[in-house]
This record gives sequence, structure tokens and C-alpha cells, in this order.
Amino acid sequence: MLTTEALNTLINAMTLEEKIGMLHGNGIFETRGVKRLNIPPLKMSDGPMGVRKEFPAASWVAKDLSDDYVTYFLSNTALAATWNEDHAYTFGQSLGSETRSRGKDVILAPGINIIRSPLCGRNFEYMSEDPYLISRMAKPIIKGIQENDVAACLKHYAANNQETDRLSINVEVDERSLEELYLPAFKACLTEEKSLTLMAAYNKLRGDYCCESNFLLQDVLRKRWAYDGVVISDWGACHSTEASALAGLDVEMAVTTDFDDYYFGDPLYEQVKNQIIPMKVIDEKIFRLLSLMNQLNMLDGQRQSGVRNTIEHQQSTLKAAEESIVLLHNDGQILPLDSKQIRSIAVIGENGNRSHADGGGSAEIKALYEHTPLAGLSMYLGGNVKLTYIKGYTSDPNANKDTYFNLREEACRLASNHDLILFVGGLNHDHDTEGKDRTTIELPYEQDLLIQSLKAVNNNIISVNISGSAVDLSTVAKHSKALIQTWYNGMEGGRALAHVLFGQAVPSGKLPFTFGQTLEDYAAHSIGEFPGDNTVHYKDCIFVGYRHFDTHDVTPLYPFGHGLSYSAFKYHDMSVTTIDTSVIVEITVENTGQYEAKEVVQLYVGDQESSEPRPTKELKDFMKINLKPQSTQKLVFTLKKSDFSFYSEKYKKWVMEPGNFILSIGSSSKDIRQSKTILLDVFKEVE
Ligand code: BGC
Repeated sequence: MLTTEALNTLINAMTLEEKIGMLHGNGIFETRGVKRLNIPPLKMSDGPMGVRKEFPAASWVAKDLSDDYVTYFLSNTALAATWNEDHAYTFGQSLGSETRSRGKDVILAPGINIIRSPLCGRNFEYMSEDPYLISRMAKPIIKGIQENDVAACLKHYAANNQETDRLSINVEVDERSLEELYLPAFKACLTEEKSLTLMAAYNKLRGDYCCESNFLLQDVLRKRWAYDGVVISDWGACHSTEASALAGLDVEMAVTTDFDDYYFGDPLYEQVKNQIIPMKVIDEKIFRLLSLMNQLNMLDGQRQSGVRNTIEHQQSTLKAAEESIVLLHNDGQILPLDSKQIRSIAVIGENGNRSHADGGGSAEIKALYEHTPLAGLSMYLGGNVKLTYIKGYTSDPNANKDTYFNLREEACRLASNHDLILFVGGLNHDHDTEGKDRTTIELPYEQDLLIQSLKAVNNNIISVNISGSAVDLSTVAKHSKALIQTWYNGMEGGRALAHVLFGQAVPSGKLPFTFGQTLEDYAAHSIGEFPGDNTVHYKDCIFVGYRHFDTHDVTPLYPFGHGLSYSAFKYHDMSVTTIDTSVIVEITVENTGQYEAKEVVQLYVGDQESSEPRPTKELKDFMKINLKPQSTQKLVFTLKKSDFSFYSEKYKKWVMEPGNFILSIGSSSKDIRQSKTILLDVFKEVE
């Protein structure tokens, strides 16, 4: 590692031209180095589900190499659904190692924007509607990535919650919602687990592009959070030279190949030369970049080389995928299936045999392989159960009513002579994608009609929904004996699904966002504030996701935190004690079922009386535990004053008002098993 003095010596030795070369793209995914001073270029790649395929420096036509295949990891929503930080860490470790093995320095991941609407095209790249769950799951990813001499690039800062007009939309959001919802996960990932780089988003926040927002980049990031890492623009998100340079953007990246013409190219050079922008500002940016390179061992010393496509990466992806699968309902315990009792399964639905890795926009993956559900089932069953696959619907854009009718007829014929129908539907990356939002939460391609027709000929239906966002599952749910939610679940997703269906893995995933019954169930839509028109007003304030459903008595189809098991858990003996500045909550959880299984025990806090509106409850802690049948475990949670506080715009800080609080422990945000009300008035003023 070089000393600070050595870094400053390097800066002093650099010409202005050399400095400018480091501050903007000189390739679509890299900056320029300074050869004579042994400063390498900074090489980046997307993110977040694996390392993206290789592009030439100045073209978006991929190179068509044979050695840029990689592990296709779980999407972020899938990872969040595990509620298991160990998986997040292992994922980060593996992703970091693959990034290094592909010769990159920065991986453009993780994406942590709040899921505000089920229609946002990039929800699959994000994690949750809840900032606490995001923070808990994203921090270990960053830690894992950065243990490989690779920097994470946290994205997209901030309030980038839709794709419609993403390059220009202005987000008007109140201070409290920023503090309580849209900023906390960024804060946690930059201060508690320091992501070495941060991507400034495309959108405007309160009238200013994020790349030139003094509020975001100066007041919050540098001053309040004391962040000294590198801020990189989203690709084409920088719209100015002086304003962005002075606000604190360090590196401008864009999608065009006229690199010298970038705002941080020749125009920046000119403005520094003409003393419009002080050299000091440039030197601070270079210092941050050199410090980053220093921390990644790019300037001297031994650098890790990383590995890719290892069995270990594939195996850990399988394990995480198994844990991400959410069992939504299971009538009469029809699941798990017993392969000895079934002679034939009709797998119906395009997603039953469709791969998803190579889609979605910048998150696309050139996967070494991808096991579809059909492949996973074939591998699991080993030829002992007759498996027949048929599309039943198609995503072909040229399909018309007749096409759907014929596909349905064909599917019904098949369904009538099989023991069981496994309907595998949902979305794909034509919908869950960068650059556009969906316009409805209904399932596309007449899937609701398909399942209704299937039920008429064979009511033994188990359904699997694959999507990165909430969709309207009410019809599918009504016509299925069991319903499973799975995701863009990585290259082992199909095997993971088979393992869960047949009980080789017991489901323990929990929904990281709410599944409503209609679009209007969601706050942003009920008030008509999505996607806005030039400006989008977040009048839903802090009432996003379950905070809205709970508080405004909207009954979801499946609530936040929901997910069933093949086993059963009993919660008992909840107790609460207050010790100085902490509230200690204890509970005993017992596995009363037949299977060794995992449960996510969720702790929510609700303020009973407050001077400001507050959600009925908010997630403040959770633990994922593994219990053998008939065994118990006592859990101890410790809550701090901040867990009872809200952000007061009046006092410009987090405040806790004394009074009654309800502490609720449950298996989902709706399935509360035990709760206690406590009066908090004697908290010592220590935080
Ligand atoms: C996306 C980023 C991505 C970048 C580089 C942008 O369009 O918003 O998430 O990292 O492209 O591909």
C-alpha cells in the first residue's frame, strides 16, 4: 500500500491532461490510466447478477468471446427473499472473485433502490420495499465483494424508483421520507460497510440531477456521512461540467464513444485551465481515485486473481436459490410432492422451460449454463416420473388471440391425461427490464385464462410464479392447490425449484415486498403518483409497501415477510425488559412440525401515539434460525432508542416521543404470533 504522501507525490507529478483522463470514460467501461506513472485504468463491469460479458472499449456490440461465460447468480430480489445474510455474504464473495478473475476493478452492484411500485422495470435488480431489510442484506454483499480487491458500486443514488422517463424525471420527495425510506440503506452501505464507490442516478431529485445535487453529494454524502469514496455517474447521467464537478461527482461515465467530448473530458480540461474550476477540486477527485486504487492493491503489491465458474460458486448459488423460494400457499399440505406417488407431471407455461439470464438490460448475464424448471425437474426425477412440457402461452410478440387459443387447447389436452399440472408462469425480462416500467400488474399472455381452462380439466394444479416484481396472482392462487413464488433465481434456479417441490429442501423464503390484489392497493398508484409527468410527487411519503397496507387497512394478497414452511413453528414466552438504553426482547420458537426447517422470526415496532403519522409497524430486526423437529430456540433481540424514533422535519433529527409502543414478533408482517405493549418514557438520552 502506498502512503498518503506517496499518493500526493503522484498527484503532483501528473499533468492536467493526465488527471482529466482519469475522471471520465475512455472506454464504455473504463477510465484512462497514466502509463508513465504506473497508474492503471479503472475497469468496471455490470452487475448485479454476475459479471457482464466483455465489450470492446468503444462499442456496445459484445466481443463474442468464449471465455467470458460466468456464474449466473440470484437476482437481488431473490437474495433478499432468503433473509439470510450468510447467503448475501457468500454471493458477494463469489461475485467479487469472478469480477477479479475477469480482470475488473469495480462491479456495478448491488442495486438497492426502494421498491416503491410493483411496476418498476428494475425491481428485480433491487431488494425490497423495506430499508432495514435492504441494509441487512446489502452490507454483507459489499463486504464479500470487497474482500477480493474489487470495489462494489452501490447504485443508484438516490430516489431512482422507476424507469419511465428515467433520464429526466424529477422526484419531489419530502425530507422525512428521504430520511426514513430512501436514504437509510445507502447510509448503512456507505458508513457501516463502506462501499468503495457509489453510482449517482439518472433522475433529478428536487430539481437537480443527482450528479450535480449539492444536497445529495455534498450535504448528505460528504458532510453528514463523511464518505470519502469515489462517486461515479450512471452511464449518461452527468449533464454538466462545473455543477457536477463542484457538487462532488468524481467520474463521468456515459454510453457514447466520443470520450473526449464528455462533460468531464475536454470541457473539464478547459474550465480548469481557465480557472473556472479550481485545480484543488480536481486533485481531491484524483486523490479519491488513487486511494481507491490503493485499497484495491492496484498501485503496488500483490493483487488477488479471483476465480470464476467454480463448483463452489454454483453450489452456493443452488443453496441460496433454494432458500429464496417462497411458498405462498399449500392447501392440504399437497407439497412436498412424493415422486413415488406420481406417475406423470404436465409442466405447462413458457417459464417452465425458459432461461432468463440473457435479459433485463445492463443486468444481462452470459451464463455458463442455466437450468430451467423443466431441466431441474428432469435432473431430480431421473426419468422415474413422466414429464411432459408444453408452453400453454407464448411471449412471442406476434402472437394473437388464435395463437393463445390454440396453445390453451393443446395444454388442456395434455393436462387431462397427467396426474399433476405444474403451471410455471409469471414474467420474463421483456417485462422485468431496464428502461421501461410495466403498465399493469396483471399477468401477461392470457395466463389467467390458461389456468382457468386447465382447472376445468384437471384440478390437481400446483403453480409457480417467476417474476422480479409483484404481479396479480389472485386468479392463479384461486385455481391452484399450492402456489410458489420464485425469481430470476440464477443458473441453478430450476434445480432449486425441484428440490423445494419434492421436499429435498424445505422452503424458508419470505416475501421482501407486498403482493397486493390490485394496482390501486399500492399507495403510489392509489394516489395517482406513478410514474408522474416530468415530475413525480412522492405524496405516499413514508407509506410505501407494508407501511401503507398495514396502516391504511388494505388487505394484501400476500403480505411482506410472508412465506410458509413444510414444518410449523410455535412462538411462545415473549418477554420484554428495558435496561438503560436498550429494550431486550426475548422469544422462544419451537419447531412443532415433521421437518428440519428454517424460520425467519421478524420483530416489528409500532408507535401507539405520536405527534406525526407513523406506520402501524416497522421491521426493526429479524433472525433466521434452523430448527430440528420438536426442538426449540430462545432468541434475544436488542432494540435501541433509534428503533423507536422517527425523523422530525421540525427538529431536523430523529426523535423518540415517550409513550406506548407495540412490539410484535411474527412469521410475517401480518402473521404476528406474540406482541407486547411497553411504555417507554425513561430512555436515557444516549444514542
Ligand atoms: C444502468 C446502470 C448500469 C450502467 C452501465 C445504466 O444504464 O442504469 O445500472 O450499471 O448502465 O451498464
